[in-house]
Parts: sequence; C-alpha cells; structure tokens
Amino acid sequence: MAADAARRKLRPATQLVHGGTTRSSFGEMSEAMFLTQSFAYPTMEAAEARFKGEEPGFIYSRFSNPTVAMFEQRMCLLEGAEAARATASGMAAVTASMLAQLRAGDHVVAARALFGSCLFIVENLLPQFGVATTLVDGADLTQWKNAVRKETRVFFLESPTNPGLEVYDLQSIADIAHNAGARLVVDNVFATPMLQRPFEFGADMVVYSATKHIDGQGRCLGGVILASQALIEESIHNFLRQTGPAMSPFNAWVMLKGLETLPLRVARQTESASKIADFLAEQIGIARTLYPFRKDHPQATLARRQMTGGGTLVSFDVVGGKAAAFRLANALEVIKISNNLGDAKSLITHPATTTHQRLTPEARAAMGIGDGMLRLSVGLEDVDDLIDDLAAGLAAAARG
Ligand SMILES: Cc1ncc(COP(=O)(O)O)c(C=O)c1O
Repeated sequence: MAADAARRKLRPATQLVHGGTTRSSFGEMSEAMFLTQSFAYPTMEAAEARFKGEEPGFIYSRFSNPTVAMFEQRMCLLEGAEAARATASGMAAVTASMLAQLRAGDHVVAARALFGSCLFIVENLLPQFGVATTLVDGADLTQWKNAVRKETRVFFLESPTNPGLEVYDLQSIADIAHNAGARLVVDNVFATPMLQRPFEFGADMVVYSATKHIDGQGRCLGGVILASQALIEESIHNFLRQTGPAMSPFNAWVMLKGLETLPLRVARQTESASKIADFLAEQIGIARTLYPFRKDHPQATLARRQMTGGGTLVSFDVVGGKAAAFRLANALEVIKISNNLGDAKSLITHPATTTHQRLTPEARAAMGIGDGMLRLSVGLEDVDDLIDDLAAGLAAAARG
C-alpha cells in the first residue's frame, strides 16, 4: 500500500486511513498491534545477517517494531518526508533531534518563545555538554542572522509558538540557516501536519509531540522525528537505537488510529477556534486576543502564507490579571483546566503558573506571557456550548 499510495499520489486524508499499512498473513483490516519485545530468527545465519544489516527484518523493539513502523510510514506520507522515527514522547523527539546531531563546541540558535521543556533542552541541557546556545526573537530575521557563528549547526523554533501564537517566517529562517551551513529543526506541534508543511519552506527536520493532535483524544504519549533518509540514518537512527526512548507498539497503534481522523478533527477544531477568537476579541473583559488568522494578529499575512488554517489554539489576556484569569477558568464547566492541548476535550491553562512557571517574570514578559494570559486548546464540543461556557467565565471574572 505504501508504495502504491506514493506512486498514485493519494491525497492526505486517504493516506491517513490507508498509508503505511502492512498486513500479517491473517489479512486483518485494522492495523495489527505487535506487542512483542523481540523477534524469532529462523536460523543463526539469519540473525547474523539481520544484525549486519544484510537482510531486512525486525530485531528488537527498541530498534524498530512493525506497528511503530506503520506509524512512521504513515507520518512520512503525510509530511512528505523520506524517513521518520517515532519516540516515547514529544520531548524525547526534541531531545534526540538536538543531541543526535550536535557535539561539544557546536552552537545552536533558537527562538526564545519555546515550550518550557524545549527551552530547558536548549538553554540548560545543551550547554552541560559543551554546546553553546543563543536565544533570539524569532520574528526578527536580523537577530537570526546576527546570532550565526562559524560553529552554528542547528536553528530551532516552534511556529506558532506556545503560548503566544507568534508565527515565524520559516522560508527566510531556513535560508539564513542554510547560508550558515546549519540545519533548521521545526517543532510543528501547534500548527499540526494538516495546517503547515515545514519541509516545503526549507526545514531539514520536523518534530512532533504526537501526544497532542495526532493522538487527539488525550490517551498516549508519543513523538516523531521526520527528515531525509540520509539525516535519519546518519544521526537519529543510531542515537535512538542505543539510548532507547522507543515508542511502545500500543501507543503507535493508538497514534495510527488517531491519524485516521486527524483531518476531520483539526478542521473542526480550527473552525471552532476561529469563532471563539472572534467572540473573545469583542468582550470588554478581554484585553487582547491572539489567533494567527485574525487580521489583528501581528503576523497575520505571514500566517496565511504559510498555514492553511489558524490552528486549534487561542490565547487571550484577561482584564484584571491573574486573579481574574483564575476566576474565569475556575467558573468553566465544559472546558477543563489542563496544560495539555490538541485533545477532543477543550482545555484551558494559565501559562504563567503552569507550563512557563519555571521562567523569571522578565523572561515571561519577553515572551509576551502576562499574568492575565490564558491559553485555550479548542476541542470537538459544540462551539456554542464553548462560547456559552466562556461567557459564564467572563461574567465570573468581572464579578471580582
Ligand atoms: C510545542 C511543544 N513541543 C513539545 C512538547 C512535548 O511533548 P510531550 O509532552 O509529548 O513530551 C509539547 C507539549 O508538551 C509542546 O507543546
């Protein structure tokens, strides 16, 4: 199917249902879940040949597994990538994408507005191993250019960012990276593979927390790294094989099922998010609404050039700061309080005290995260119920 699909250039929604499927001799319709650690070899000679890479076949599920391989193949077809490796979580993917291609003496340039754990990897972990890092304002191309050194190997960014929903110019940043002899790694979690295709704008590697929209129903952790065959083979494959952050076959099966409905979910959640952003922007209790496809978004033109939808997240500043934001969130009944995102259930979080609480107030301010900011991940509920819920929350915030 994978080869047929590639030849016939099936469209993404079809690939997401059929792509990458390999069937056992039973001809099962739903993808099989191969819950096995290891694989039996018919002979010692066959074992030797597989270990030497002279014969195809599975060896051990830390290296590869048939269910995980189906997930990787389906992700490749969706993303237009030559190769992929799945990981136990999104953070395992981000960490491997950096550590596997860097060594002491190298230099990384990253946009400052990163998810808290991604920022930890770049700001704290890499320097422990002799990798220098420079953080820049991702929207300012001059800062990317000026940060380049002769040791620069990797540029790293998220776009849209978490939680400020800033949008960065992927093509221009990729060009700066390539002129410097560096690679661009994009964490595409907020855009989802449905709304933004970073390889088309020059990215060399794309990483996902599959935990988010790819699962889409809040069940399993997972991650995935996509790149050219050469890059995966030369740096990522052996790093993952030896260090072991493998995706479990069970989680890969859940992710495969998630991919089948990804286009439907992302389209519906994006439509609802856009309506909610328009509703929030008109409320007197809201000081600022951030949504990439709204005209008042600072990078609205760029967002429309590089994304096919504004995404499933809306961030907003509540008038009255932290106390009012807490009153609003505590009064919600349909929308749940959680730092997760991309779930079928709508989730709200207060970044300053959760995902970004580790940062100093100054660092948060530099990322545009105020005490009144809430980040809403829009789910699959009826959008009018979500708007009613937010209206009740706003009334509670205003009561003081
Ligand atoms: C942008 C971004 N990257 C990476 C991650 C990490 O993913 P995971 O929780 O699957 O490790 C998250 C969320 O947790 C995220 O929001």
